[in-house]
Amino acid sequence: MDLMEGIEKRKSIRAYKPDPVPRDVLKKVIRAAVAAPSKGNSQIWEFVVVTGDELKEIKGMLSGLLKTDFIPMMKLTDEDSASPALEQAKIRSSRNKEEMSKILKPMGLDFEDFMLEGTFRFFDAPAVVMVFIEDIYLKNLPHLLSVGAAVQNVLLSAQTAGLGTCWIGGVWRYTKQIRKVLGIPDNKMLVSSVAIGYTDDESPINKYKSGRESVDELVRWIGFEEK
Ligand SMILES: Cc1cc2nc3c(=O)[nH]c(=O)nc-3n(C[C@H](O)[C@H](O)[C@H](O)COP(=O)(O)O)c2cc1C
Repeated sequence: MDLMEGIEKRKSIRAYKPDPVPRDVLKKVIRAAVAAPSKGNSQIWEFVVVTGDELKEIKGMLSGLLKTDFIPMMKLTDEDSASPALEQAKIRSSRNKEEMSKILKPMGLDFEDFMLEGTFRFFDAPAVVMVFIEDIYLKNLPHLLSVGAAVQNVLLSAQTAGLGTCWIGGVWRYTKQIRKVLGIPDNKMLVSSVAIGYTDDESPINKYKSGRESVDELVRWIGFEEK
């Protein structure tokens, strides 16, 4: 599969086979992650690959916290909420929700519950790649963007290795608790994680492919001769 085809075929996978992913396969994925560009080549990321009993413990802990200590998303001010840009993002997300609900409903699943509970269980993937950075780097947008580049390399290289992935941002608020289970020092922040494993092709939810706006909708060409 060439790179462009891989990029266009990639999608979030939200049901996995229980089969473990061999460590050497995961190592290749991390090699792709560290090959990503980073601000000044500072490579500020630290990867933690979790599987087995420790992953089970984290999933159990997060599922418990979802019931007892749910930390809601940051509340927007009224002024921010009225922003047309946010309104547009909301419209796009609600399209996703509508389309996914059509698949989830016949499975007896509610969209919000499925997404929230699934996120907190990493959709039961057999492995999770977590990206930590030292808290000092959080203040610097380019460092955070560097992590994004590394995560995208994780997604694409995993796909090349025949694996499915789902980028999981929803659990970063539980950095403290996750750090404790994994023995990670207090100054490291979890900025992103990726659920990773072999795709369960039998699950209807994996048939879903989200749409995109057309290129023409999202790009402005400047300085080109033809209109
Ligand atoms: C920063 C970031 C955080 C995300 N967090 C979650 C998450 O917590 N749970 C989840 O199910 N999907 C999460 N996603 C996946 C998006 O929902 C998904 O990429 C988007 O709906 C487009 O679908 P696609 O990946 O299938 O193309 C996240 C994606 C990004 C880029």
